Amino acid sequence: MTSTSAYKATLSFSNDGSSIEFPVYEGTTGPDVIDIRTLYGSTGKFTFDPGFMSTAACESEITYIDGDKGELLYRGYPIEQIAVHCDYLDTCYLLLHGELPTSEEKADFDYRVTHHTMIHEQMNRFFAGFRRDAHPMAILVACVGAMSAFYHDSLDITNPEHRHISAIRLIAKMPTMVAMAYKYSVGQPSMYPKNSLSYSANLMHMMFGTPCEAYEPNDVLVRALDRILILHADHEQNASTSTVRLAGSSGANPFACIAAGIATLWGPAHGGANEACLLMLDQIQREGGIEKIGEFIAKVKDKNSGVKLMGFGHRVYKNYDPRAKLMQETCKEVLGELGLGDDPIFKLAMELERIALEDNYFVSRKLYPNVDFYSGVVQKAMGIPTSMFTCIFALARTVGWIAQWNEMIGETDQKIGRPRQLYTGATRRDIVRQPAAETKR
Ligand code: CMC
Repeated sequence: MTSTSAYKATLSFSNDGSSIEFPVYEGTTGPDVIDIRTLYGSTGKFTFDPGFMSTAACESEITYIDGDKGELLYRGYPIEQIAVHCDYLDTCYLLLHGELPTSEEKADFDYRVTHHTMIHEQMNRFFAGFRRDAHPMAILVACVGAMSAFYHDSLDITNPEHRHISAIRLIAKMPTMVAMAYKYSVGQPSMYPKNSLSYSANLMHMMFGTPCEAYEPNDVLVRALDRILILHADHEQNASTSTVRLAGSSGANPFACIAAGIATLWGPAHGGANEACLLMLDQIQREGGIEKIGEFIAKVKDKNSGVKLMGFGHRVYKNYDPRAKLMQETCKEVLGELGLGDDPIFKLAMELERIALEDNYFVSRKLYPNVDFYSGVVQKAMGIPTSMFTCIFALARTVGWIAQWNEMIGETDQKIGRPRQLYTGATRRDIVRQPAAETKR
């Protein structure tokens, strides 16, 4: 903990008139935090905050979100500038090391990542063990976890060099595994990585190339994919990142921790939202398209329907998610490049957004489009199947997870994460059993 206390907060209890003081820390930006770590020791009471509505679970220097302004910073740099001036591997370096790389550092980093992209040949057999119709996220969770069975030489988490090698391996091998999960699902042979290609071009080559003919990735699509990866690279203490930190706090190896993060990301309230959003748009389109938006919005507003406007709303953003704006821009570029400017799903998404942003239900709750609203439309246009969207998100977020895990392991006062609870179950009681002879057969 590097913060110092600037002022104090006093908590007083109405039942016995006692009070206790806590230090309050100021970050470089964002809300101050009250350090309540001594609360239980001094009062025998816990705080109660399911869903972490008011709890900062860690100190971090990596990513900052100002939800009211709609601002996202990676190591202080606005996402809008990173999206324009950096590629994904610059972004990875920045998140891992805190600074953008010099040209020598970048060349070295690119080389290291590029030369770790192959996976152990025996890992192929893992893929072959799955049903062909397995969800690619199920395959990814398993295969990333299985990496700990293959890379024993980098599992000493107390050794910074081991941690760095694991980071490089994860960043480098995720595209290979994501592409293999895809190829397996369509029954095509997996493609080996190609070192002459950039990170994102190589991903496209492994997903869309076949051994039968040369594949030339389209530059506009490569740039779009790279931007998708940049926009998803980190997002401070979201559910999957917090899971990675919690798993890592026990001393678990990085591959196991990232597998836990992938599992958490899969849910439709988190990374699964891009898949759910496109399925939602497809369904509205099938049921009548733009004409039916009114009916759909009415369902969303009916609390008994259980229907949500996927790709809208965010725990932190109470303004436009800056990633959604960039994604919308990319969406237009990709559709233009592919001659799909009249794509009905994109038009439907734009109209749905316009109507929702004028509707008091969404306005009063400050619900704006998030990154997932347009990412599915872009990915679909690029030929990426819906079931792969969350895998692409997981690939992109791997660097964020690893940077956050590394930051936590490097802390001097790092402790295992161990939340407490408000217990409302039965109090102590004794088991009373009927004697055997009296029980009915
Ligand atoms: N559609 C309809 N109503 C919504 C939506 C939505 N997408 N999002 C929130 N609300 C309502 C919610 O019902 C609640 O209403 P009320 O005050 O009447 O009870 C109010 O808005 C506040 O929402 P909340 O659920 O308490 O907010 P939260 O911070 O717990 O949830 C969220 C955030 C992202 C889980 C939620 O907005 C949601 O489920 N959105 C749709 C799924 C989605 O797009 N997720 C991607 C998030 S961004 C990518 C990522 O980080 O993974």
